[in-house]
Amino acid sequence: NGTVRVNMSNVDSPLQIFVRAKKKINDIFVEIDDYVKDAVSFMHAVSGDNGIASVQDVANVEAYVSKVQAIREVLKRDHMKVAFFGRTSNGKSTVINAMLHDKILPSGIGHTTNCFLQVEGSDTDESFMRTEGSEEKLNVQSVSQLGHALCATRLQECSLVHVYWPRELCALLRDDVVLVDSPGVDVTPNLDEWIDKYCLDADVFVLVANAESTLMVTEKNFFHKVSTKISQPNIFILNNRWDASASEPEYLDQWAANGFGDKRVFKTSKTSPLAPILADGHQVRYFEFVDFERKFEECISQSAVRTKFAQHSRRGKNIAGDVMSALEQVYSTSCDQKSAKVEKQRILQEQLTAVEEQLTAITRQMKDKIGRMVESVEHKVSLTL
Ligand code: GTP
Ligand code: MG
Repeated sequence: NGTVRVNMSNVDSPLQIFVRAKKKINDIFVEIDDYVKDAVSFMHAVSGDNGIASVQDVANVEAYVSKVQAIREVLKRDHMKVAFFGRTSNGKSTVINAMLHDKILPSGIGHTTNCFLQVEGSDTDESFMRTEGSEEKLNVQSVSQLGHALCATRLQECSLVHVYWPRELCALLRDDVVLVDSPGVDVTPNLDEWIDKYCLDADVFVLVANAESTLMVTEKNFFHKVSTKISQPNIFILNNRWDASASEPEYLDQWAANGFGDKRVFKTSKTSPLAPILADGHQVRYFEFVDFERKFEECISQSAVRTKFAQHSRRGKNIAGDVMSALEQVYSTSCDQKSAKVEKQRILQEQLTAVEEQLTAITRQMKDKIGRMVESVEHKVSLTL
């Protein structure tokens, strides 16, 4: 059916920067976890009556166990997040399907996507969806099933549905990329709510524009709002439907001048890597899409490593440092106690020596005295005889 399934391992992908960094930082936190737990056992061993560590010292070190645990939980779940925006029917869902090399999301004429859809890798072979806040898994095997399930659940435009798709079927999902599709920015008065709920942790934004018409006020407004809440957002602009357009590129220059953050502009069409419909310039648009995919992967992985891991690696370093200081504190207390004991022993020894000397002196005096007494008694006795 023209769909390309990518299930080989792509070791050259720039996404591997994130995948490897994630593995490494997770491994490091396993070690930090061990270190902290060892430190806790040690502190317990040297606390208690007459112990070196106080109850407070032990509690201070123990507090790090749950902190490390919490960071490990977050790190395990960390992913790269890309949010797609644009007006209704510009092709947001189509572009996401093209990037996933699979038809997962419903697309079509008119207002199709009516809530936020977050596509992410499923850890099992199943594909299913789940609405935010609910644990119920709704099985979805096909795009039409997903469409029906979404209609049946009657969701509000700002609600979120998680779509889990087997990782093995899509390279992006396997490498921990999460893609968020949205309803058209022109159908909502709630841009602020959208941004606060779904965009603040996005590593990359993709604005899917329509090459057949100019950017609308709603799209500009949306990104103005994004750039007031996020400093230097990474924005890609896909001038989609290039196949159908005789567009003028001038307005793209406005974006360059408007300070919307770091952005890159590409001209694509749905003919991109999916079905080879041989409209004029198909090949150029195909390569433009491939170029977009590459730059997108570089950008998202670098941004995610920076935003997701930099802070945690600093925290890990601080925790290891703090635990080490606590152990050093115990060590120096034990050294102090030892030298205090040695000093006490020395003083005792000195006192003992002094007592000994006094005793010797007294004994000598007594001996002399007794000797003299004996002598005098003997003398007196000899006189009487
Ligand atoms: P909403 O979900 O309604 O906000 O729209 P959307 O932005 O997700 O658009 P969608 O992907 O549903 O695409 C709308 C229609 O445009 C579909 O019929 C697509 O097949 C079609 N379409 C998408 N991209 C292109 C393109 O590059 N060229 C042409 N000719 N048609 C396209
Ligand atoms: Mg859509």
